[in-house]
Amino acid sequence: MTLLKMIFISCLIFSCMDTVKQADAAAKNQDLLYRAKCAACHKVYPPQKYTYQKFQIYVTRYGKALSDEERRKLLDYLKENAKKEEMPQ
Ligand code: HEC
Repeated sequence: MTLLKMIFISCLIFSCMDTVKQADAAAKNQDLLYRAKCAACHKVYPPQKYTYQKFQIYVTRYGKALSDEERRKLLDYLKENAKKEEMPQ
């Protein structure tokens, strides 16, 4: 393997790791946003405990002070992490 190829491949790996780190940071921010906005009146309800449908109701009910962007981020976060709908048996 030539030195140039090695450099090229290391750059690829590093930029990839950076993307992972950024995704991590984004997830952390969303988690912090959730904790900041949705745990002022009660404990943090683990997203996995409720369905997204239920969270939509609560974000509407208790998220009136959120900006559009915050609401969108929160809903994205909850959609990704909420309990999956129960499958009809
Ligand atoms: C102003 C205070 C307040 C804020 C802020 C708040 N909640 Fe609540 N939350 C309540 C109260 C009071 C209840 C119980 C009554 C009810 O179900 O509406 C509740 C209940 C809930 C429940 C149902 C728990 C259960 O076991 O039935 C969920 C889920 C929930 N909130 C999610 C959220 C989310 C998501 C946010 C952020 C957008 C949020 N809450 C922000 C006051 C708040």
